[in-house]
Amino acid sequence: MTISLPTTSPLCSPSFVYGVATSSFQIEGGASERLPSIWDTFCDTPGKVLDGSNGAVACNHFELWEQDLDLIDSLGVDAYRFSISWPRVVNQQGELNQAGIDFYIGILDRLNDKGIKPFVTLYHWDLPQHLEDKGGWLNRQTAYDFRDYVDVVTKAFGERVHSYATLNEPFCSAYLGYEAGIHAPGLACKTYGKKAAHHLLLAHGLAMQVLQKNSPNTENGIVLNFTPCYPESDSSADREAANIADAHFNDWYIRPVMTGVYPDLIEQLPSSEKPEIQPGDMDIINQPLDFMGVNYYTRAVYRCDDEHTFVLVPQDDAPKTDMGWEIYPQAFTDLLVDLHKRYTLPPIYITENGIAEADTMSQGAVNDRTRTAYYSQHLNALHAAILQGVDVVGYFAWSLLDNFEWAEGYEKRFGIVHVDYDTQKRTIKDSGLSYSHFINQRGDSAPISAKEPC
Ligand code: FCB
Repeated sequence: MTISLPTTSPLCSPSFVYGVATSSFQIEGGASERLPSIWDTFCDTPGKVLDGSNGAVACNHFELWEQDLDLIDSLGVDAYRFSISWPRVVNQQGELNQAGIDFYIGILDRLNDKGIKPFVTLYHWDLPQHLEDKGGWLNRQTAYDFRDYVDVVTKAFGERVHSYATLNEPFCSAYLGYEAGIHAPGLACKTYGKKAAHHLLLAHGLAMQVLQKNSPNTENGIVLNFTPCYPESDSSADREAANIADAHFNDWYIRPVMTGVYPDLIEQLPSSEKPEIQPGDMDIINQPLDFMGVNYYTRAVYRCDDEHTFVLVPQDDAPKTDMGWEIYPQAFTDLLVDLHKRYTLPPIYITENGIAEADTMSQGAVNDRTRTAYYSQHLNALHAAILQGVDVVGYFAWSLLDNFEWAEGYEKRFGIVHVDYDTQKRTIKDSGLSYSHFINQRGDSAPISAKEPC
């Protein structure tokens, strides 16, 4: 099983950026060296994380970071996307914690020495617990605290960073964290989701303003996740159901960021669910972006029924990942082409794409054929989108390492590198070897024919 694409594909060009991605809470450990985050508290709450685990040690990247960066280097990738732990780099008064910042400066310097572009995400869900104690993302002040944190860390990092993303997947922070209650801080209230989302989007806009000032030479943007919504049938009721779901879960985030307005759906929300928008907020949210980060894993199918405006329809016979997510690469193409039609987008990075599989280690190797096939299918789907005019400039595999998969704990493995959590031994899986091989022989030979795999 290999990853193959037509040699003439822009995806085979040496200038297309390939990387691997991680996030702080999911891999670092080193919890005693930072303030508690909402994920520490969530993990400590019985019944919240499937295997009862936590992020105290995770992949112990906090201690093993040098060897992990050598591992990244050995894959031959162009870029590494990782996130900064807010509770590691500033104290409760919002002042720099020098030891915490030095940890990331070490990473940034080593990446730059190796010629690997650092893609820094400033918020990947690990809000300091002391801010949650004051209301977290339901409290407007948190957006200003985020702005101030971004100001402090970007000044400390200087010229070391290639790209900054303000937020990772504000949908997950807002909806899963404050409305569905399945992610930290675990609040489940219908009236919370869109209020938290508004403060997250405001935080994004305020942080973009800081980045424009402190770091005008980096590529600055945001990372959004999309689960494209399909109707179960061609009936107008089902099509409307899919549109409403899309407005709640996808368009609610990209539309204000790109155009400064929420979807029309806002008019139909009961006032208790509406966000509290202050004058000027929408202009702050609608900042120019150097790039849009797109995370894609799967699609969702909806129908309308008598009681609900939209109902999720399980795809029982479809191929699924170990998360139970349908494998449907066509939706990746459809999504990108659709976004391209709807919005005037900046260049796109695919900041996450990947699959959980129940991997097994045999004679020191992990033969994860389904994962390699997933990457090949999705890179081909990306190729199809680019042919239709979508400007995609880079792709990051999620994830470098098996890691703490949030409410699923360590049971789900997304890595292209296997982690033995007892010994912390890393083993590059066959998918990682295929990804590395694919990246490294790009541009080696002149295009022969559009069908020749690269
Ligand atoms: C995304 C998250 C990432 C990881 C993948 C599987 O929603 O950004 O941290 O958990 O899903």
